Amino acid sequence: MQKITMQEVERHNTPDDCWVVINGKVYDLSEFRKGHPGGSKIITDNAGKDVSNLFNDVHPKDIVERLLSPEACVGVLDETTIDPEKHVVAAEKKAPSRGLQESTAAATDAHQNQQWEKPPIDTMLNTFDFENVAARTMTEEGWGYYSSGADDEITLRENHTAFQRIWFKPRILINVKTIDLSTSILGVKSSFPLYFSATALGKLADEDGELAISRAAAKSDVVYMLPTLSSYTLDEMLEVRQPGQVQFAQLYVNAQRERTKEYVQRLENGGAKALFVTVDAPQLGRREKDMRNKFTKNTDVQKGEEVNRSEGVARAISEFIDPSLCWEDITWLKSFTKLPIILKGVGGGLDTVMAYKMGCAGVVLSNHGGRQLDTARSAIEILPEAVEALNTHDADWRSRFEVFVDGGIRRGTDIFKALALGATAVGIGRPVLYSLAAYGQAGVERMCSLFKDELTMVMRLMGTPTIADITEDHVLYSNLMTHVPAQARDHLQLDTYEPLRPAIKM
Ligand code: LAC
Repeated sequence: MQKITMQEVERHNTPDDCWVVINGKVYDLSEFRKGHPGGSKIITDNAGKDVSNLFNDVHPKDIVERLLSPEACVGVLDETTIDPEKHVVAAEKKAPSRGLQESTAAATDAHQNQQWEKPPIDTMLNTFDFENVAARTMTEEGWGYYSSGADDEITLRENHTAFQRIWFKPRILINVKTIDLSTSILGVKSSFPLYFSATALGKLADEDGELAISRAAAKSDVVYMLPTLSSYTLDEMLEVRQPGQVQFAQLYVNAQRERTKEYVQRLENGGAKALFVTVDAPQLGRREKDMRNKFTKNTDVQKGEEVNRSEGVARAISEFIDPSLCWEDITWLKSFTKLPIILKGVGGGLDTVMAYKMGCAGVVLSNHGGRQLDTARSAIEILPEAVEALNTHDADWRSRFEVFVDGGIRRGTDIFKALALGATAVGIGRPVLYSLAAYGQAGVERMCSLFKDELTMVMRLMGTPTIADITEDHVLYSNLMTHVPAQARDHLQLDTYEPLRPAIKM
């Protein structure tokens, strides 16, 4: 490939003749910038420069190969010609989010004015503690992206509150001296019935992103599902796998099917043990916190620059998800991979049985962390319906199919309830990201061990010494499908409408 000097790159510094350097390679983005999901301005403002710092902050490293046509790369940079002072764009300085501090109605003025100090890690007692620290320490961009749900965030909240509609029926006088949390997920041994689900852009939480998550999963003896839209490359994520550690993988199917085929083969050759195909995101949901961040950062609309205000970080990484994905593609996937295929994002009994009939190894009942279709039901609510549909279809389904749930799992009690209603294990997403953002790899490990402590206690108090002892008879869930008791507050409406006031005597 042709070597290009920085002086040459510098000359291409206009919107219509726009070159930049990304990680040692020179790209002509004159065309691509017009459709850049993050807006054209960020590119044209930095035309003729080395933008690697800006780029690496947000994008997975290998997205250039995935999105740009090969001709866009005009050569490699002659590194000897670069002057860091003059040619290299610094990473954006990011304001820490005020997140919960600002938005929690209960926060008093006095509390807000206090200088906030990050508490030591051993004061973290549950997943919410980590979330609170993450809200105060993450960048606005990162917090906006991770914490946001679709539309009014009703499903986002329902995911957790739905668990409150299930009540326990504990048994007594059972020997619970020893509690065994260990189980098997798709034939893989796990220290407890929980796995780390795939979540995009780990670097928004911590410099070590997915690498730290994978290491924490190894230490905690749980499975990590590698995300397609990662901050680190697939090879980097596979490389950190520890001896004996199992990684699963999540898959977004690309419109260019050959790319997907290549990717799946790399996963399979790289040792991933199962393929979770995301099926609930033919279009990404409207996450308004994320969108607003994007909007406020592009305040130059008046200047006539083309700014895509439609979505924030989510948009920037999802351009290549194919909305035409359908059932036939599952047959196509099965034709070239031996990996067990699990559909991630199933929302009802009918599709669960369809997946079973198609020869899938399982489903994840999920609404994508409340980030897609608002007022979609929580996974825990769908679970009894899915299990009943499977039972009706084939009484022996458990011999070759597993059902998982994710969304809103924040307590050991939640895990127990999911297992009681028939799930093999639960997936967690945000608790991993928040504990990572708050305390790095050590945070994820502590979060995981708190979950284990909680589940141990619940199993002891419920009279179920092993996972196999947990059954439907341990829970009362007749109210699970009734949505009246726990109504989520409609924050948008509450903050928008003025309260009516009574007439005041003057
Ligand atoms: C999201 C996708 C990318 O929810 O999984 O943001």
